[in-house]
Amino acid sequence: MSRVSDQAGQFDRPVGVFDSGIGGLTVAQEITRLLANEQIVYFGDTARVPYGTKSRESVIRFSKDNMNVLLKYGVKVVVIACNTSTSWALSVIRREYAVPVIGVIEPGSRRAVEVTRTGRIGVIATQSTIASGKYTQTIERLLPRAQVTARPCPLFVPLVEEGWIDGKVTESVAEEYLAPIRKAGVDTLILGCTHYPLLKTVIQKVMGKGVTLVDSATETAREVKALLESRGLARQSRRPPRHEFLVSDEPEHFRTLAKRFLGHDLASVRRVDSV
Ligand code: DGL
Repeated sequence: MSRVSDQAGQFDRPVGVFDSGIGGLTVAQEITRLLANEQIVYFGDTARVPYGTKSRESVIRFSKDNMNVLLKYGVKVVVIACNTSTSWALSVIRREYAVPVIGVIEPGSRRAVEVTRTGRIGVIATQSTIASGKYTQTIERLLPRAQVTARPCPLFVPLVEEGWIDGKVTESVAEEYLAPIRKAGVDTLILGCTHYPLLKTVIQKVMGKGVTLVDSATETAREVKALLESRGLARQSRRPPRHEFLVSDEPEHFRTLAKRFLGHDLASVRRVDSV
């Protein structure tokens, strides 16, 4: 097993990223783009995906299990790339674990508040994320005059996983889901689910050119960079980084979907037990 040695300096330890499955790869990819020297250990809980239809209790329990997997790999920071996990589990995890933890909701909300002119902001996400109210609370804390319209889009995740990222069916589903958001006259729309950035073209077409789409992956990567720099944790080693991809179910399906998400093959994906 290629666990990072416990003797490695704090800063040479990997950045841990977890998600309910595949979608968090979009966040991991942004981190590797911005921080090319960092090593990533990614864990996708593919045995228990989707989280977006699950209760708060289950999502918290699964998220803690995922933390425990990553801590075995000596990670120096954990990024919760899953919006649903961030919604329910971020505050609990920050209380219970010593390692710094970054979620995706604060960075995405901050970006939306920066770009909106009218204060009318839309949020689309899984049922569980919308039910948590976390996006609305965060946006309203950052911009008290904001008017937030939040809607779940449950069919978007299976459509993306099937590779239906455009075409008539996807467009009509998007039109149906996005109608109330368009009616609210938002000028900014947060894609509050790991899978939705893959539907950007369709969503932009339905919403119109005047609406700015916010994808939290880029903002989250910036937050990771700022945290590593402020704590003196940026990786120093000149050796090329070696990323690890771990899943809780059979790796083959993950590899196939990963190619769809990233546009290239992942070198190796291993199955590990999450509990
Ligand atoms: N990763 C989840 C999220 O961002 C989407 C997939 C799921 O429902 O587990 O909310």
